[in-house]
Amino acid sequence: HGYFTYDPGFLSTASCTSKLTYIDGDAGILLYRGYPIAELAKDSNYLEVCYLLLNGELPNKEQYDKFRYTVTRHTMVHEQITSLFKAFRRDSHPMAVMCGVAGALSAFYHDELDISHEQHREVAAYRLISKMPTLAAMSYKYSMGQPFIYPRNDLSYAGNFLHMMFAVPCEEYRVNPVIERAMDIIFVLHADHEQNASTSSVRLAGSSGANPFACIAAGIASLWGPAHGGANEACLKMLQEIGSVDRIPHFIARAKDKNDPFRLMGFGHRVYRNYDPRAVVMRDTCHAVLKELNISDHPLLDVAMELERIALSDPYFIEKKLYPNVDFYSGIILNAIGIPTSMFTVIFALSRTIGWISHWLEMQADPASKIGRPRQLYTGAPTRTVLPINMRK
Ligand code: CMC
Repeated sequence: HGYFTYDPGFLSTASCTSKLTYIDGDAGILLYRGYPIAELAKDSNYLEVCYLLLNGELPNKEQYDKFRYTVTRHTMVHEQITSLFKAFRRDSHPMAVMCGVAGALSAFYHDELDISHEQHREVAAYRLISKMPTLAAMSYKYSMGQPFIYPRNDLSYAGNFLHMMFAVPCEEYRVNPVIERAMDIIFVLHADHEQNASTSSVRLAGSSGANPFACIAAGIASLWGPAHGGANEACLKMLQEIGSVDRIPHFIARAKDKNDPFRLMGFGHRVYRNYDPRAVVMRDTCHAVLKELNISDHPLLDVAMELERIALSDPYFIEKKLYPNVDFYSGIILNAIGIPTSMFTVIFALSRTIGWISHWLEMQADPASKIGRPRQLYTGAPTRTVLPINMRK
């Protein structure tokens, strides 16, 4: 057993070098390309952040206009993709649909299967950033039995997404600027987070030379789990299950009970042992949205705020450094703006696509990158002899 380092969960293994995102979990710091997340959320928008992650610098006005133009030229998906959607059951979970349709993009763009050309890799990145909101909104419309809404390139990235989600052909839909801004902030805060499970999945899939669409599908699959991107959905379901403030102590007691697998969803983080800096921004955004929508005594919000108060003052959570994470507040915002719970992780996936593809591009350009091939410590049976079937016990 002495040949390999045993590191389940990669607690002490760096799988690559990266210039994209820096996290200091003890200090609660998150930087994209050196810029603090709170400053980016305040003074830039999601497309600027996409440009930053892809190119290393924030764009000037001219670079931004060009980038925005290119992204908006790719927002439509092939009409044949509508048939693909229609093959799914109406009650399919939208993440199940997203795993399928994102991977299926590789069946539509044959040039990009040859990833040895830098230009092919770049076009694939543009296509993914542009088409993910379209696919995400289509997965929602399909589940509702409503017609798909085509993208509108005159709107902002977030505005266009809300339009494709909520517009219907029979009436005019106007995007509320406060909600549009909140949506954009949700995208910014989820854009990248270094080598989490889904990004590592994208890198591992990409290390074999798989095409970028297939790699993003691997990321979506990995994100779906409740310990990762599925936590925002799980968190809202938990708030609904708790239901009222007087039931909170019972759930806190369960969270502390070692023999009970129940965990407070939206609390704790593998890397942050301090307040998640994204949660701070998300909390303010959450309050701004609730104010705009005149929601002051939302029962879920009462439960959420009381849960937050107790968790931040209870010795169990303090000692274990379990702070509310980004998913705790994002679920409340998305619920308030009328997005169904099953779409929460889809929105996380569309926001994270830029992070995934930036890591994939970085890996492709890195001469030190190799096929990912972890080893194991074998704990099975020693060598033994195969007996013919009639001699086996
Ligand atoms: N509620 C109650 N106890 C918890 C929780 C929680 N949410 N999270 C961790 N603990 C306890 C855990 O029982 C353990 O206790 P002990 O040391 O006595 O055995 C201790 O804290 C350390 O937990 P761990 O499981 O060793 O920590 P980890 O780094 O492996 O897990 C985590 C991190 C995020 C998976 C975990 O905190 C969790 O399951 N949280 C709830 C799910 C969630 O909100 N996930 C979203 C993460 S942020 C978005 C993203 O990155 O996708």
